[in-house]
Amino acid sequence: MDATPVPMRPGAPNRRVHAARESQTQMKKFAEITDDDHLSEAVEHAQSLAARLPKALDKNKLYKAAIDHVAQLEINDTDLPEGSFGYIPIDLDDFLNAILELESILSADVDYQHSELRHRPCSFLEVGCGTGRNVHLLGRTDRFTFDCIHGFDLSAQMIETGRQRYGLGKDIFVQDCLDFDYGGYDIVFFYCPMSDNAIERQFEERLIDTMKSGAFIVAFGDEMLDDSRKLIPKGDNRRIYKKM
Ligand SMILES: C[S@@+](CC[C@H](N)C(=O)[O-])C[C@H]1O[C@@H](n2cnc3c(N)ncnc32)[C@H](O)[C@@H]1O
Repeated sequence: MDATPVPMRPGAPNRRVHAARESQTQMKKFAEITDDDHLSEAVEHAQSLAARLPKALDKNKLYKAAIDHVAQLEINDTDLPEGSFGYIPIDLDDFLNAILELESILSADVDYQHSELRHRPCSFLEVGCGTGRNVHLLGRTDRFTFDCIHGFDLSAQMIETGRQRYGLGKDIFVQDCLDFDYGGYDIVFFYCPMSDNAIERQFEERLIDTMKSGAFIVAFGDEMLDDSRKLIPKGDNRRIYKKM
C-alpha cells in the first residue's frame, strides 16, 4: 500500500464512509474464516511480504547512498591534528541498529522508567559528529525519546558546513573530545574520533571519568571500554555500556 498521503478533496467523506463499510465487511469475513483458511491466508501474506522485500532493500540502499552523499559534500578536514580521524560516516544500518538496541535496553532499565513512554526522555550526544548527519537523522522523527540531541566536532569547518546544510544551529558545536565534560548527557555515542590508539584511550578515559553514573555509552571502534571496571556491558554486541 502507498504511504504517500492523499490530500482531502470535496467528496472525500463519502469515500471514507465507503472505506469504513468495506473494512467492516472485511473484518466480518475475517471473523468467519476457519483455522485452515487462517493458515493459508497467513502463508499468502508471508509470500507477499517476501516478494516485496528485495524492492524494499533496494530502496533502502538508495536512501542510504543519497543521505551519505549529502553528508560528505564539501567536507574539509584540514583543521584536524595528527592523531585524529577525518570524517568517515558510520554505516547507517549499524548506527540505527545500535540506537534501537539501546532503546530496548533503556526501556528495561529501572533508572530510565517512565509511566507513559518506553523510557524517560534522555539527552543524547555524538562525539565527532562531522557535519551532523546522525544528529539530523535522529531529530527528524518522533520515533526516539530524546529530549535533546547534540553533537560536536573538533573541525570548525565541518560544524559550519553542517549548520548551513541541516539547520542544526546550536545543536552542533566545536569542541575537543579530549577536554570536554560529559556530565550533562545520558547517552554518549562515538565512532573512532582518534586514529592514534593512545589518544583514543585518553579520550575514553576522560569520557568515563566525567560522565554521570547511570549514563550510557554507545561505541564503535573503542579501545578500552571492555577493560573498564567502571562500566557494565549491556546488550549482545559489546557496543553499549552503562557507567556504574
Ligand atoms: C570516523 S568519523 C565519525 C563521524 C560520525 N561520528 C559518524 O559516526 O558518522 C570521526 C570524527 O571525529 C572527529 N574528530 C577527530 N578528532 C576529534 C577531537 N579531538 N574532538 C572532536 N572530534 C574529533 C572528526 O572530525 C570526524 O568527524
